[in-house]
This record gives sequence, C-alpha cells and structure tokens, in this order.
Amino acid sequence: MATILVTGGAGYIGSHTCVELLEAGYDVVVVDNLCNSSRESLRRVEELTGKKLTFYEADLLDREAMERIFDNERVDAVIHFAGLKAVGESVCKPLEYYHNNITGTLILCDCMRRHGVKSIVFSSSATVYGDPAIIPITEECPKGEITNPYGRTKGMLEQILTDLHTADPDWKVMLLRYFNPIGAHKSGRIGENPRGIPNNLLPYITQVAVGRLVCLGVFGNDYDTPDGTCVRDYIHVVDLANGHVKALAKMAGEQGGVWIYNLGTGVGYSVLDVINAFEEANDLKINYVFKERRAGDVPACYCDPSKAERELGWKARYGIREMCEDAWRWQKTNPKGYE
Ligand code: NAD
Ligand code: WQD
Repeated sequence: MATILVTGGAGYIGSHTCVELLEAGYDVVVVDNLCNSSRESLRRVEELTGKKLTFYEADLLDREAMERIFDNERVDAVIHFAGLKAVGESVCKPLEYYHNNITGTLILCDCMRRHGVKSIVFSSSATVYGDPAIIPITEECPKGEITNPYGRTKGMLEQILTDLHTADPDWKVMLLRYFNPIGAHKSGRIGENPRGIPNNLLPYITQVAVGRLVCLGVFGNDYDTPDGTCVRDYIHVVDLANGHVKALAKMAGEQGGVWIYNLGTGVGYSVLDVINAFEEANDLKINYVFKERRAGDVPACYCDPSKAERELGWKARYGIREMCEDAWRWQKTNPKGYE
C-alpha cells in the first residue's frame, strides 16, 4: 500500500485524515512543527486505529530536515495541510503568513520534485471565492476578491501548484476547497483544539457550553439572509477527511492534471441555525448576544458539491445534528483540549 506524507498531520483536519488513511490501509508519515497542535493528537490517532504512523517534528521551512525526511521515506503522495490559518492574525502578521504558507509550500514542492514525488493534495478554502458570484458555489465560480492575507496565500498557492503542473504535466495536483469543517471523531478522542480564544464559531460555542467562555457574540444580524445572520456550509471533519482518501484514489488512476473540488454538504446554515442545532442536539442553552458585523465576513457561502460526488464518488454523510453532537462530545470529555 502507498505511503502518504501528511504535512500538518497533528492538526485538526490532519489528525482526522490520518485516522481515515490508516483505516484505509495507507502507511502514514506525518511532518508537523506542532506550532498549532500537540503530539498527543497523533498518539490518540494510533490508539483509535491500533496502527502506527511515523512522526517527524520538523518545520517545512527547514529545507535540510525536509530533505532528510524524503531521503528516509518512500513517499508516494503528499497531503499538504501545514499552514497558519487564523484570518485576523494574518492581517496583523502578513509576512509571517506569506513566509510560512508560501515559502513552506515552495520548499515542500522542491523536495518532492527532487525525490520524484509528483502527487499533492492541497488544503484550499472556500475563501478563494471571496463574496461568491454564484450561490450555491460551483467550481466554475470565478475566484473573488479575497479579504485577508491568509486567504490570499490559498489563492496564490492554488496558482503556484497549477503553474507547477503546467511546467511538468506529470504533476498531479488536487485542490480541495473546504467549506466550514466542524465536529470531531465519534470517539470524542480527537477534535479541534484552538490556542487562546477561538476565532471560529463552533469552538466558541463549545467553550461557552463547557464554561470556559461566558457568552457568544453573534457577528451581525442585519445581513440579507433569512434571519439576518451569516450563512455557511458546515461540514463534518470526518466527511472532509474521507474526501482526502477519495482524492488519493482518483489521483492514483490518473496520469497528471489539476483537479479542483468543493468539499461541503451543499446546505447553508445561519449562525442562529447552528446555535439552535447545538442546543437541541445536546440539550443545553448557549448564551449569546448580537454584536457588530465582523470585518471581511460575507453574507452567504455554501457550495454545490456535486462535482466531487460525480468524479470522486464522495458525498458528505453527516448532518448538522451529528456535527454538533460530536463537537460537544469532544469538548466535554476534553474541556482543556489536549492539555
Ligand atoms: P491546524 O492549525 O489544526 O493544522 C495545521 C497544522 O500545520 C498544525 O498542526 C501546525 O502545527 C502545522 N504547521 C503550520 N505551519 C507549519 C510549518 N511551517 N511546518 C510544519 N508544520 C506546520 O489547522 P486545520 O484546521 O487542521 O487546517 C488544515 C489546513 O486546512 C490548513 O492549511 C488550513 O488553512 C486549511 N483549511 C482549514 C479550514 C478550517 O476551517 N479549519 C478551512 C479551509 C482550509
Ligand atoms: C462562521 C460564522 C461569523 C465566531 C473561516 C475562514 C475561512 C475558512 C473557515 C480557514 C460567520 C460567525 C463566528 C463568533 C460569530 N478557514 N461567528 N461569532 O468566517 O466562515 O470561515 O473558517 O481555513 O477561510 O474565514 O468561519 O467559524 O469564523 O464563522 O458570529 O464568535 O460564524 O461571523 O458568520 P468563516 P467562522
């Protein structure tokens, strides 16, 4: 079976993807500098699957360390999650974001090329559509104006990887545009573990529920949406992880190319819908108040996921209730995350 190098594999989406890869029979090698994650997540991945993976604590920016990994391991394909992802922080630290996300990817791809590894699955984001021109968003929807440096690294990296394939058509480049991943593994053993105050909606809600935070601020209730709050396409992280397994299977049967897929459920939920779903699924109340709009938020963002179903044979299985149940199971059994 093939060996997959998973960059950023200790992180939220990466750890869930490692579980699905190991269960599908792949050998897994993780490289992560643990700047936003913990070694414990990978220990739990091994506990859940009963299988071993190989872990390198290394930075993508450390070219020598990356070369050594490729020298040591016989890598067949790379799933590239490693990157900084906090939208607000990226506005304050653009150089750090461009350096880490762009230079890190350039070094990774150069090492891949030098070792004859030419298959990469890249974590892109719905953010590349900006305020989308078409709703539900298909992959043909033009890229929009991206409002922050984090999102711009995704747009630029999509272009860089596409250029790599243009220069050498043997490259297989899979650009997966994630919508809003939430939830956790059913076991409650791995999940999202943000450092500091969460930026994203679901971890904020679960931390209010567990008593770490007092009250959720709902950013804006005067948008042109059914209830005035923003609408998003939330997707269970295990469904998302499975999308990567399907992506690898598709790439294995191809000669070379660039493929783009939206990974979402196709269903839009407002912020108030999510609060209600979380309360109902878990039989508790979430304290919230309305606040000003947050800069850079778009009113509505949800996709048409039918291309991934047609071409990858992938479709999200879990609905919002399970996403909320699983997010809560993780948080309540790990109130301080992996600490
Ligand atoms: P995460 O922060 O939990 O995982 C990213 C991992 O990359 C972390 O473990 C971090 O330690 C590691 N990392 C960062 N820079 C590194 C470097 N230079 N060298 C080695 N390791 C490094 O984030 P996540 O939510 O799991 O996201 C994974 C990927 O998916 C990211 O690229 C993110 O931008 C993208 N994405 C995430 C979302 C989301 O909402 N979570 C949505 C769209 C796209
Ligand atoms: C969802 C909704 C907020 C927090 C971000 C990135 C995107 C992608 C996924 C990364 C919005 C509202 C939130 C809160 C709130 N990321 N909200 N109170 O902004 O859709 O997407 O994560 O890799 O690039 O931009 O997700 O979870 O931050 O927000 O009312 O405390 O919840 O305004 O409407 P978003 P989110």
